[in-house]
Amino acid sequence: MLAVAGLCKAFGGVRAVWDVSFAVAPGEILGLIGPNGSGKTTVFNLVAGALAADAGTITLDGRSITRLTPDRRNALGIARTYQHVRCLPHLSTTDNVAVAGLYGARPAASTGAARRAARALLERVGLGWAGGVPAGRLTVAERKRLEVARALATHPRLLLLDEPLAGLNPAEAAAALDLFARIRDEGTTLMIVEHNVGAVRSICGRVVVLNSGEKIAEGAPEAVLADARVMEVYLGERAPA
Ligand SMILES: Nc1ncnc2c1ncn2[C@@H]1O[C@H](COP(=O)(O)OP(=O)(O)OP(=O)(O)O)[C@@H](O)[C@H]1O
Ligand SMILES: [Mg+2]
Repeated sequence: MLAVAGLCKAFGGVRAVWDVSFAVAPGEILGLIGPNGSGKTTVFNLVAGALAADAGTITLDGRSITRLTPDRRNALGIARTYQHVRCLPHLSTTDNVAVAGLYGARPAASTGAARRAARALLERVGLGWAGGVPAGRLTVAERKRLEVARALATHPRLLLLDEPLAGLNPAEAAAALDLFARIRDEGTTLMIVEHNVGAVRSICGRVVVLNSGEKIAEGAPEAVLADARVMEVYLGERAPA
């Protein structure tokens, strides 16, 4: 579905992403892991189009999207959530989702239709009660769910989740993992950046590991997490549990 080849992005002298290649198959949940600053969010920014690649190609269903703007990529079915959650704080939670529903792969025909779809999505992520609340009043955990609803409102075929469990308690994290599995079962392919190794083990069929911008391992979670080089890069960081 998605193929990334020879992807590079530098910020001044920092090689944030260096010659990274990987592919994502339809229907899988691919984990993207690595220590802090290893380039995970930059990969998401490059795939979603928030940043332009210095080199390399990104193809979706065989078509190059490397030079497309973020809105074009979103219209082709790529949606993402942010590590640092953002919302429109003065708009209602429903309208935060409805705004997203006016864009994307199948934009709603009217504001009313976008609001109806938004309310259904809020139910789905467990925020049905919060539709009328200004989004700025939600807790961080609730905003994380709002981010997922906003991304889903654009009808993604490929959903990129950047540390969706950070700041959630164990019960909230378990509910989020259930939701992600259901989203996948309903036909959306997922890529997840996550430091919670237990979660990665439980939900990801395959994992790509970055270190200092470079891919150092790829494969089934059990094999990758047992890899000596992967263990080493996590030492002094968050050691895999
Ligand atoms: N917009 C930017 N300008 C300058 N440097 C940046 C920018 N974005 C990222 N970097 C740098 O690129 C490197 C990779 O950062 P990135 O945010 O992709 O890492 P990450 O793996 O997502 O880390 P974390 O686990 O902390 O979220 C880091 O050295 C970071 O400081
Ligand atoms: Mg990051």
